[in-house]
Amino acid sequence: MELIDGKKISDLIKDEIAKEVGKIIAANGKVPHLAAVLVGDDPASQTYVASKERSCKEVGFISSLYKYHAGISEAELLKAIDFLNNDDEIDGFIVQLPLPKHISGQKIIEAIDPKKDVDGFHPVNLGNMLLGIPGFLPATPYGIMQLIERYNIETEGKNCVILGRSNIVGTPMSVLLSRNTNPGNCTVTLCHSKTQNLSDITLQADILIAAIGKPEFVTADMVKKGAIVIDVGIHRIPDAGTKSGFRLKGDVKFDEVSKKCSFITPVPGGVGPMTIVGLLMNTLKASKNKV
Ligand code: GUN
Repeated sequence: MELIDGKKISDLIKDEIAKEVGKIIAANGKVPHLAAVLVGDDPASQTYVASKERSCKEVGFISSLYKYHAGISEAELLKAIDFLNNDDEIDGFIVQLPLPKHISGQKIIEAIDPKKDVDGFHPVNLGNMLLGIPGFLPATPYGIMQLIERYNIETEGKNCVILGRSNIVGTPMSVLLSRNTNPGNCTVTLCHSKTQNLSDITLQADILIAAIGKPEFVTADMVKKGAIVIDVGIHRIPDAGTKSGFRLKGDVKFDEVSKKCSFITPVPGGVGPMTIVGLLMNTLKASKNKV
């Protein structure tokens, strides 16, 4: 079994991005600028946004944070989005999800200018992805495609089983891996909560992508020997024995599945760091598209 080291690949790509930023500065170009919108005080969202800001600094981007209290109205948040859409200093921005229940996430996403939608969540960007038109890919699928590419994982003709049909991971991954591209050309099966005989299907997978949102859901008896396993899950499991009070677990029971597969992404240090890199790559693209 070989670990797919997302931390290592993300560091490598961040170095490449930092070099590009150096070139942009030398040419008197505009330094890429990513803004993040954070509503409320969800601890996980705060951690993700802080990590995105840290990564921006590492590669030499400008980052800014727009924080709002959980009680902000939808209309006020839409005004903030309008401001960011029209601020020429900002190349791209994200609205950290989830949003409070009284705000429609879909309405907010649709209000983002697709040219600044570096999360790749806007219907225009998702439509472009479906049609193979260049645009912003959702950050996590973009990061996973980079992992597959940089580990030279053969995908053509392989059976790929995806667990979870979310708009931001499962469904886009099913599109990207079934396209006539490299990586791509897989025969994809997209499984969800209504799928029957799940293990029969997962046992056929040469490539298994778990994005189901249930800690340690995938067990060794569900995995074909020698499969490639990509774990998108990230769960905080209470653990009084750790300093933080929790441990991170994925959607895959790592200890047993890692003994059976050929490649696996760990949690943490697998897909997580690659999501941020996907966001940075999109932001670099957004800043270049503007010049
Ligand atoms: N919440 C969980 N994942 C993401 C993500 O990739 N982008 C945003 N904006 N919010 C998230």
